[in-house]
Amino acid sequence: MAFPLHRMRRLRNHPWTRRAVRETRVGVEDLIEPLFVSEAIRDRKPIPSMPGCFQLSLDHLVEESRQSFELGIGAVMLFGIPAEKDARGSAGYSEQGIVPRAIRALKKEVPGLFVVADVCLCGYTDHGHCGVLEGERLLNDLTLELLARESTAYAEAGADMVAPSAMADGQVAAIREALDGAGFDDLPILSYAAKYASAFYGPFREAAESAPQFGDRATYQMDPANRREAMREVELDLDEGADMVMVKPALAYLDVLESVAEVSPVPVAAYNVSGEYSMVKAASERGWVDGTRIALEILTCIKRAGADVILTYHAKEVAKNLEEEGAGSRR
Ligand code: PBG
Repeated sequence: MAFPLHRMRRLRNHPWTRRAVRETRVGVEDLIEPLFVSEAIRDRKPIPSMPGCFQLSLDHLVEESRQSFELGIGAVMLFGIPAEKDARGSAGYSEQGIVPRAIRALKKEVPGLFVVADVCLCGYTDHGHCGVLEGERLLNDLTLELLARESTAYAEAGADMVAPSAMADGQVAAIREALDGAGFDDLPILSYAAKYASAFYGPFREAAESAPQFGDRATYQMDPANRREAMREVELDLDEGADMVMVKPALAYLDVLESVAEVSPVPVAAYNVSGEYSMVKAASERGWVDGTRIALEILTCIKRAGADVILTYHAKEVAKNLEEEGAGSRR
């Protein structure tokens, strides 16, 4: 028995039923806001390819984070831009580096904020690759040592979680061991488990000044064509002790996200990356799409596909919008 007995539109007529039967809701509690903190500037510098995003001095980072916290965004992910770079990315694991300083400032000035630190070397190396090189080859096992040191430096500064994104084999195990050895057995690791070699990171590399000076990241990040391989990446990271796993990018990878979320015994994060953000902003600046509605729709769909947590540059905008909606308007 179908039509005319059944009419799907009956429950779509009134805003109350539409809200009551809604299966997925994005809330500020789902979001982590990525922020860029720079040692080289004193104010906030707009990132041209990411309208609404900035490189922030330490003071401005605190200010931005405070605003986000007041909007209900409980977590930020930090990316550092050092004043000096070298071949081994030493500014990334120095205790006096910009990220440890930022973590200390945030813990003091915005208590209650959950501070996640991205762990990678591409922002700190002069060649822009995610680890130590020999010629043009990335040395996996030597890189592990540095990632472990970087994680420990962030933990010592007070980070609430570390998030390794270098796609070095064994990075979760190396970091877990280093953290445990330093007394941080309680600090969780969010692993960028299925991270693809994606053109969607283009604007981020401008923002973080981390573009590789030669070649690309195809020898360590995943081929966008592969899904089965993502499952294996996740499995290995779980064996190494990951507390949460991430799929990145999100939007063009919802199938991967769904597959991971279906089997993952740990919570799953999705990274709505810079290129996804910039495309929405560019089209909305031209008046071609309604940027705020699209952002909320994208995040809702990422959550529908299975994400427990979403990293997004839209965080503030969406938080403001949800607040207004909560204050009375009807959809
Ligand atoms: C560092 C890192 C990158 C992103 C997050 N961590 C860049 C890259 O791998 O090249 C991308 C985030 C974004 O595009 O928003 N390895």
